Amino acid sequence: MKNLIERVSSEATATEADVVSLLECGGADVKALYEAADCVRHDTMGDEIFLRGIIEFSNHCRKSCDYCGIRGPNRTVTRYRMTPEEIVETACQAKQLGNTTVVLQSGEDPWFTAERMCGIIRAIRQQAGVAITLSIGERPLGELVQFKEAGCDRYLLRFETSDRDLFGRIHPDDDFDERIQCLHDLRRAGIQVGSGFMIGLPGGDTGTIARDILFATRLELDMIGCGPYLSHPETPLSARPLLEDREIYFKTMAVLRLLNPRAHIPATTAFDALFEGGRDLVLTRGANVFMPNVTPRKFRALYQLYPNKPCVDEDSGQCSACVVGRVARLGRTIGKGPGHSRRGPEKNSSQ
Ligand code: 5AD
Ligand code: FES
Repeated sequence: MKNLIERVSSEATATEADVVSLLECGGADVKALYEAADCVRHDTMGDEIFLRGIIEFSNHCRKSCDYCGIRGPNRTVTRYRMTPEEIVETACQAKQLGNTTVVLQSGEDPWFTAERMCGIIRAIRQQAGVAITLSIGERPLGELVQFKEAGCDRYLLRFETSDRDLFGRIHPDDDFDERIQCLHDLRRAGIQVGSGFMIGLPGGDTGTIARDILFATRLELDMIGCGPYLSHPETPLSARPLLEDREIYFKTMAVLRLLNPRAHIPATTAFDALFEGGRDLVLTRGANVFMPNVTPRKFRALYQLYPNKPCVDEDSGQCSACVVGRVARLGRTIGKGPGHSRRGPEKNSSQ
């Protein structure tokens, strides 16, 4: 086991078979894997947990991803769109609640043109003074450059799966190569890049997860966001089962940390949808970032990408108090700075 963990701790020597072995390990080896991931996290990222407040500012979406609850064709969703003023005000609140970054997330909503987004970014910069991450889907390079100029620091765009056939089947509007090109464009625009995948999409197996882990690693990401795939009833992929081995969701996060010692890795919200205290567990198995929901309470239930989403009945103050308690119970501290990329500059400009 020790040799396996050592081999997988280097991208140069990790093979798909090694990663599969780790994902399938059992008994005392599981604990050893989690301890190794926690140790790497401690040594490279420290004990700070960075808070990135997420504002789900619009659930309008022009796309039809087969897994997603807010896909355009889902007529059961009540659509909402926060005004630019509301978004900026929410960002200011997020700052007061201790978040050093705000993540602006939405469906692919064309109402938010590059010009409108840039206005929002500039206003948040001036009034809240927090780092800004966008998570608004694919945009052309020209717009990404404008976002950067306006003050956008980072961008989250998951590749969802590295299996291009599967990607094509579940994304009727998207092309795998274009998605990856957009990740390269983000880097060209000078924006820190976050990406990742859903763990346990239907049609995959342990080999798929291993390939997803290795693919994410080769992208040399500043941030890696992954979470369990959860079947949403109002989608073409309704009623798909969870993975039989529930531990594999956590093992995936641990292996990602071994291979990506310097990446920011959030304990994503979907872990709480599936496991009691799921996000806390991920924070002890490789993750170093928490994304408290700071969306105004009245909109939360309308932004259900997957079922059983946590924090829907809470407001931002309650989530913030909850997070402070969680961090303290883990014996960690809340990140003070913006928590920018820990990758060397050579990595950020290499692609
Ligand atoms: N289960 C889990 N994650 C989902 N996402 C969207 N739908 C689901 C689902 N049913 C994730 C996607 C997307 C991110 C914002 O949410 O990975 O990139
Ligand atoms: Fe929202 Fe705990 S983080 S209730």
